[in-house]
Amino acid sequence: MNTFTKQSVTVRAPGRINIIGDHTDYSNGFVMPAAINLDTTFKLDKSHNGTFCSVYSVDTNTTYEFDIKDVKCCNKDSWQKYIDAVLVLLKEKGIEILGFNASFSGTIPIGSGISSSASLVSSFLYGLNCLFDLDLELIDMIQLSQKAEHYIGVNCGIMDQFVSFNGQRDKAMLLNCGTKEYELFNIDLKDHTFLLINSNVSHELANSEYNIRRDTCERSLHKIQNAINIESLGELNVSDLTIIKNVLTPFEYKRVKHVVEENNRVHLVRKAFENSNLTNVGQLMYEGHESLKNNYEVSCKEIDFIVDFCRENDSVLGARMMGGGFGGCALLLISKKDITSFSIKLKKLYFKNFSFQCSSLQIAIGDGAKELTCSYDHNLTSVSS
Ligand code: GLA
Repeated sequence: MNTFTKQSVTVRAPGRINIIGDHTDYSNGFVMPAAINLDTTFKLDKSHNGTFCSVYSVDTNTTYEFDIKDVKCCNKDSWQKYIDAVLVLLKEKGIEILGFNASFSGTIPIGSGISSSASLVSSFLYGLNCLFDLDLELIDMIQLSQKAEHYIGVNCGIMDQFVSFNGQRDKAMLLNCGTKEYELFNIDLKDHTFLLINSNVSHELANSEYNIRRDTCERSLHKIQNAINIESLGELNVSDLTIIKNVLTPFEYKRVKHVVEENNRVHLVRKAFENSNLTNVGQLMYEGHESLKNNYEVSCKEIDFIVDFCRENDSVLGARMMGGGFGGCALLLISKKDITSFSIKLKKLYFKNFSFQCSSLQIAIGDGAKELTCSYDHNLTSVSS
């Protein structure tokens, strides 16, 4: 019998880009995210001090100390509320853990729409699961991480957490958020690449507006259910839009139209990749942006400026806002050789218009959450990747 128990683990979980399919996940629609090489790394050690815990944020040089018996949800500052949310949720599931000492740091710019919070939560939970051998399935960790965001006040869908746990290097994910079935497929971008342009805008409004969008979708679903037999907006087709128009207010119709057409775009982008038609992928990204801007109204003037500038440049095949909206990053599909000259021109004009900088962020498609190292109580060390 193996009597060794884990003493220490180091894990990491990534942020994500989303190629197409925004504001569709919480309507059980389709999304096409990919995990990226920017992430949050957690090192966790079992404490020899009963139920006492400490968590140190390397990047902010702040420490949070608490007794695990006293943790409540979730009125702390900044990152500490995510720690509370995960621990409270584990407790609610009847999972007992003992004290630990943790430290973490991240490479994802906060508030940039590439899921720094999902990466933090996923990494922390993944680390606890490894350290205490909790035997949680991936899907349990995904749902628990999503619920942690709900506890903090963002009624988010499942996309960010799903891809943070399940992403794979060089592969995009096509996820059906209703059934949770997914496909990971190779994307060949040839002489192009994905590039992020961070608007460096992070609106306070984002969380409350996000929840309002979700409420509107739920209210609209109830109305549509009187006319069409569906369980979620994700089941609707573009051909249903004429019927829907009659049962919704013009305002609700705009929102639902986005969800239905964006879902369709996810499938069209999948086909375009299959046919190696990157021009078509780019066009669909631009269309997605227009809809997020005009129908869903979650863009902002800075991101629109970036996307408009892209349209005038032949080196960019497509661009769009990404994630929840109201700032953060735009995702571009751009010719590799033109990145430098394009970025210089854009940054100059952007500064001229807004009097602050935007920044470019080169990313690669990376793996989902994993354990990096682990050591046992008898100083036996294994390196798992
Ligand atoms: C945020 C949420 C996701 C998703 C996107 C929009 O990133 O966390 O669940 O809804 O916005 O697509």
